[in-house]
Amino acid sequence: MGKSIAISQDLENIITNIAEVARILWKLGWAESNAGNISVNVTEHIPEDIKELNKFPSKEIDKSYPGLSGFSFFITGAGTRMRDLAKEPSGNACILRLAEKSNRYHILWGGRSDLSVEPTSEIHSHLSIHRFLLQKKAPQKVIIHAHPEELIALTHVHEYKQESKLNRLLRSMNPAVKIIIQKGVGLVPYRVPGSDELAQATVKAIEKHDVVLWEKHGCLAIGTDVLEAFDRVDILNKAARIFFMCKNAGLDPEGLSAAQLDKVERLSWSKK
Ligand code: 13P
Ligand code: ZN
Repeated sequence: MGKSIAISQDLENIITNIAEVARILWKLGWAESNAGNISVNVTEHIPEDIKELNKFPSKEIDKSYPGLSGFSFFITGAGTRMRDLAKEPSGNACILRLAEKSNRYHILWGGRSDLSVEPTSEIHSHLSIHRFLLQKKAPQKVIIHAHPEELIALTHVHEYKQESKLNRLLRSMNPAVKIIIQKGVGLVPYRVPGSDELAQATVKAIEKHDVVLWEKHGCLAIGTDVLEAFDRVDILNKAARIFFMCKNAGLDPEGLSAAQLDKVERLSWSKK
């Protein structure tokens, strides 16, 4: 069994929230089987100097991430189920620190005692986005990827493969979209899941948006914490669900008018 760092109360709280969101994602049907993954930049919660770092298990990634050496991430495991993560985070995720040689990492916590849990197959998207956020000194530290049904369904519809039409539809179905998803949603054309091509296309979209749809695959959101990132996906999917509810009933939804949306913009909307 490998060494493990002690977890501070703040980090414990972050992990508790991740477990809660994992449970909700499963319950909503947005995390079937091993679908979905979550990562958090937890560097500020990990001691800078870790004694005998080289005694912590170390593994290789098939790409270097210069700029991320020394940074630590909570990251869910490849092939693990959100419903299991909800019950036992340390057996279904790990905290890793990128080594000096930035195509290697040390596992500081979790990952199961036999180290059979590797970081998510979407590691390229997660690390590329974290690197981008750090370069921009952005406040967001969390990335969630899930498979929300109605949003995925929309990306199968030719008409909504145009970002402008997709955004107009989603805003018109739920006023909260305009308030909370202020930069609108980005649409990333289909790329092989887990590929670096998907990661690069996603970073490009995240430069302009806090939430993106992966065509015919899923959704990815960033947030200052895991609840904020989840809320963004939840609000967007509600909009898509209302659209399909009307369609399923054989009705054409009217949607909020431009004048109605204009007024929405001037309202304040608080979750607190
Ligand atoms: P992982 O189990 O590797 O996280 O993959 C799930 C997924 O949704 C891939 O896009
Ligand atoms: Zn996926």
